Amino acid sequence: MASEVGANLGAMRVIIDGVELSGTDARVSVLDWGLQRGFGAFEVIRSYGGALFRAGGHLDRLTRSLEALHIPVPDRNELEWWTARAAELGGDGAVRVIVTGGGRDPLEHVPSSTVVIWEPLAEVPDRLRLEPMTASWHPGTDRAAFHGIKWLSYAPNMAAADAARRNGFDDALLLTAAGDVLEGPTFTVAWVRGGAVETPGMEMGILASITREVLFESCARLGLPVAEGRYPLARMLGADEAMALSTTKEVTPIASVGDTALADGPVAGRLAAAHRQIVAEEIG
Ligand SMILES: Cc1ncc(COP(=O)(O)O)c(C=O)c1O
Repeated sequence: MASEVGANLGAMRVIIDGVELSGTDARVSVLDWGLQRGFGAFEVIRSYGGALFRAGGHLDRLTRSLEALHIPVPDRNELEWWTARAAELGGDGAVRVIVTGGGRDPLEHVPSSTVVIWEPLAEVPDRLRLEPMTASWHPGTDRAAFHGIKWLSYAPNMAAADAARRNGFDDALLLTAAGDVLEGPTFTVAWVRGGAVETPGMEMGILASITREVLFESCARLGLPVAEGRYPLARMLGADEAMALSTTKEVTPIASVGDTALADGPVAGRLAAAHRQIVAEEIG
């Protein structure tokens, strides 16, 4: 998929501060702290055939992230227009919105940029194999001031996912130093025990995932009890089944965590179907 983007870079449309550019002409300043220091925030919004799912929730979260970093929030109407336009141009896929912090050194001042890019979806395995690992950098462990911020500083998350892939897994499962379950580098996790769904609570410093919100709605529709909290890894390993949740993964079953295989149970499938039903109802 990445090579598809590379091959079509010239044809790809990128919107920077409202200006539509080809992928090859799109540029941000090398003095921008977004590039130099990962200072900025982002969102990834699912486009179903050109219609955005829960764009409002994503843009609300973007606003919260930017406010936490004291980066000016772009005009909401413009954000809505630019993201809708990118979805319309690209169709089925995802729309990435990046707001950079700009160059803040007095001698190198550059304004912040809002970059909106349509992307094709990366392929997601049918069932994920996760490698559990301690995430010492995670907001749930040492950056309480930045709980739930979708900032550009995702290097540790990406390094964790890469390490898991080098070790033969599909992705990582992040844990506190005490061994409690947090989330994946780019997804939330949930599991099923005795017909009830469990998922780490927001007090764990995890991202306020839009797909997690949909999970609660799906559970309500299906009459499944759902609990949130602090859970040791053993609780997830002993589950009947488990799943990864995100805008691009939707509800994807987890096949294993480390050496522990998890059953291919029926609940993840029902939750995935409920998720798709909610999407269909909202985007028509
Ligand atoms: C750390 C993290 N957790 C969870 C998620 C899932 O969030 P959403 O459902 O809003 O895509 C993401 C999404 O990228 C993420 O980066």
